[in-house]
Amino acid sequence: MSMNVSPAGYEPLLDIAFAHPIRLIASALGPPPADVIDRARAANVKVAALAGTTAHAVKHAEAGADIIVAQGSEAGGHTGEVGTMVLVPEVVDAVSPVPVLAAGGIASGRHMAAAMALGAAGIWTGSVWLTTAEAETEPVVKQKFLAATSSDTVRSRSITGKPARMLRTPWTDEWEREDSPKPLPMPLQPLLVGAALNRINRSATTPGSGAHELATYFVGQVVGSINTVRPADRVVLQIVEEFIDTLTALSGHLDV
Ligand SMILES: Cc1cc2nc3c(=O)[nH]c(=O)nc-3n(C[C@H](O)[C@H](O)[C@H](O)COP(=O)(O)O)c2cc1C
Repeated sequence: MSMNVSPAGYEPLLDIAFAHPIRLIASALGPPPADVIDRARAANVKVAALAGTTAHAVKHAEAGADIIVAQGSEAGGHTGEVGTMVLVPEVVDAVSPVPVLAAGGIASGRHMAAAMALGAAGIWTGSVWLTTAEAETEPVVKQKFLAATSSDTVRSRSITGKPARMLRTPWTDEWEREDSPKPLPMPLQPLLVGAALNRINRSATTPGSGAHELATYFVGQVVGSINTVRPADRVVLQIVEEFIDTLTALSGHLDV
């Protein structure tokens, strides 16, 4: 695994992205660089930026991001410490009129209704796709996700060097131990563990093997509410249907 966190690393990836008819490009782990924003503007592509704190969201807006993704701590992948419920309205107020998408722990229509109630213009999701029929998630990890509860994730620096939420397994437990060495900072940790993680994933298909136990991947707390494999289009429809049902039910509170 390598981290494309410098222009030399990310520019070839941008070349590929901009060779396609894309509408949006998203930046995380820092404000979108000026050259990326210029390139996006020239190609009529919107720029989104992920923020885990209100201060980061303000920096992204000042850098020229068109859309801010306010991502709470519940989220899978790199994530901060502030929960979605607290973060979203704070960010909405701080960057208005820039539109804010709520992220972190959103996988259902009820979650979406809550996010819209907090002032979000829409939702941004990650974990909910990892157990879909189309997902390229390692089969072993997919099964672990389906069985996991919302208490089975942990923010760990063990894969990238920065705190990222992932499924808790003996891999993360070993890195958390008092007497274990601390993970290296990004981008050194991926260089240290990348080959080992690849070997673990290759060998994890053997039930009962050490690799089977160690295998993990980025996922958010909402993994606990996802217990079946669904096609991706079904996930979208269920979110929309439950969103409509929820708004209808909520409007009933206004009856006197
Ligand atoms: C497996 C995985 C990989 C991710 N990789 C990235 C990434 O490369 N860049 C990024 O901006 N966000 C990444 N994210 C975060 C998502 O964009 C999104 O904000 C997050 O998943 C939302 O929270 P949720 O997982 O609770 O739905 C990743 C999330 C997951 C689960």
